Amino acid sequence: MCGIVGYVGENKVYPFLIQGLKRLEYRGYDSAGLAISNGSLLVHKCKGRVADLERHVLSKETEGTVGIAHTRWATHGEPNDRNAHPHLSMNRHFALVHNGIIENYAELKIDLAKNGYLFQSETDTEVLVNLIEFFYQQSDEINAEIAVRLALSKVVGAFGIAVICREEKDQLIVARRGSPLVIGIGQGEYFVASDATPLIGYTDNVIYLNDNDVAVITKNNLTLKTLDDKPASFKISRVDRSIGEIEKGEFAHFMLKEIFEQPKTIEDTFRGRISHDHTAIVLGGLLDIFPKLIKAKRIILIGCGTSWHAALVGEYLIETYARVPVEVEYASEFRYRNPILSADDVVIAISQSGETSDTLVALRMAKERGATILGICNVVGSSIARETDAGVYTHAGIEIGVASTKAFTAQVTVITLFALKLAFAKGEITEAHYHEIIQELTEIPEKIRTILAGHLRIEEIAAKYKDASNALYLGRGALFPVALEGALKLKEISYLHAEGYAAGEMKHGPIALVDDNLPVVVVAPKDHYYEKIVSNIQEVKARKGNIIAVATEGDTVLKEMVNDVFEIPESHTAVAPLLAIIPLQLFSYYIAVMRGCDVDQPRNLAKSVTVE
Ligand code: G6P
Repeated sequence: MCGIVGYVGENKVYPFLIQGLKRLEYRGYDSAGLAISNGSLLVHKCKGRVADLERHVLSKETEGTVGIAHTRWATHGEPNDRNAHPHLSMNRHFALVHNGIIENYAELKIDLAKNGYLFQSETDTEVLVNLIEFFYQQSDEINAEIAVRLALSKVVGAFGIAVICREEKDQLIVARRGSPLVIGIGQGEYFVASDATPLIGYTDNVIYLNDNDVAVITKNNLTLKTLDDKPASFKISRVDRSIGEIEKGEFAHFMLKEIFEQPKTIEDTFRGRISHDHTAIVLGGLLDIFPKLIKAKRIILIGCGTSWHAALVGEYLIETYARVPVEVEYASEFRYRNPILSADDVVIAISQSGETSDTLVALRMAKERGATILGICNVVGSSIARETDAGVYTHAGIEIGVASTKAFTAQVTVITLFALKLAFAKGEITEAHYHEIIQELTEIPEKIRTILAGHLRIEEIAAKYKDASNALYLGRGALFPVALEGALKLKEISYLHAEGYAAGEMKHGPIALVDDNLPVVVVAPKDHYYEKIVSNIQEVKARKGNIIAVATEGDTVLKEMVNDVFEIPESHTAVAPLLAIIPLQLFSYYIAVMRGCDVDQPRNLAKSVTVE
């Protein structure tokens, strides 16, 4: 949520800032801006995308080797030129970019106004930059670093900030509490970003800031301290990413690229975790903690958005196979509802970014109450990954499309491995059954390739439904969350209203919506719910709904019964969610493209939500 980049070194800063913003645009795209320090502070910013900023800057001065930039997802103040970052302090001593929310900005603003400060924007960020300047001007003893420290000590809320000062022109100051920041170490240069994506191709060596770290950076020096001016410990990590991962290549959109990457990302996720002979699962990250997991009385899965849907799939799998009671909670609800937790509980956070604020805070709360906390994250080194007792990374690679696809299937892969391993360790499934499902999981990538090969047919079907204004998605068992996820994909990128429902619940309300205009997508492979879901299909058919079924290849009965079919290969029930979601992702993608929607950057959404 909001992207920050910064640079200090010997090279011209503008190209890095613009390229960095483009790579971070998935974090927010309401407005963009940059500030360069070259004796004065040059600030250029405008409403819209990074491409708009590039046009806006065309004939403007951009000389300088120190700078900061920002792409915004609006919280305080509508998206417009004035509210765009960077914000300048009133007397133009400081420029600042900010990710997060200053919760006490209103009272700070009143105090600053009493001291003569005037404000141009409606943002909390402008209050912070003026507060820094206010302290800076109190005495000659107070340099930029001290002023930043003093200002941040007054702030309630979350921030990741990068600041430049007119008088201290060779230096960049960054600080974080709650919003991620990473520093890239180059040769005679440093890079700053809200995640490592902009650093790819520039450096592999990074430092992930911890909460309450403040770094003062010049081209040859980095000083890292805590907010209260104590030396801070840090570790240099390696980012092992290639440029190819952040480019679309032959694909029209990142989302499409990521959908097509799934056979590989699922393989990457189970590679090294399934033995060569497909008889054992090894989850290295959980090795030490596993004895504790076997004894867990309850597992609570938390997440938001698509990750919450992966958690729901996890509930079915863990309860079915490992026979441990599971609860699934929206992190945003869990954190505020005073949940009852004990040392026998295991709380597992599922998060692609590892930075979602609600999930992170919920996890901290669970830890304080004595539960064991685990993470299933995609971004290596992310806050959730670092704060959990143990965890498993999904190796989906960088996901750029705002609508999550490959991260979801990687999460479901990990949760499937986890459920099976736990089930076998607890003696809840036989060795033969364990081996059978592992084998089925290893066959998933090939089966997904088959579904993807039929993408043109899915596109044709999408063309028939592109003008609908509502859609209903139905599923049962572990395929109910797949129906929810299918509906979410459609909503997110095509702005069609779509609702996911447990098929058996349809008769208690949504059936009232069914008429000859309503597309009803039913996830109905041949599993032990088949007869039941066929009855639900009949109920829709009797009311003239248009039925699109996700059906097992060769199911001629369903083919006769429904309007359109997305075929998926036959599979074990435990791994069916990984197949059933693929046609639904493609269906949403094609509908959104046909409706002229911006697939990779849908309106109002952001990839990583680091505010409550
Ligand atoms: C945002 C994204 C969703 C994502 C959710 C949770 O809303 O747009 O795609 O599922 O956050 O993100 P996380 O990084 O925690 O999985």
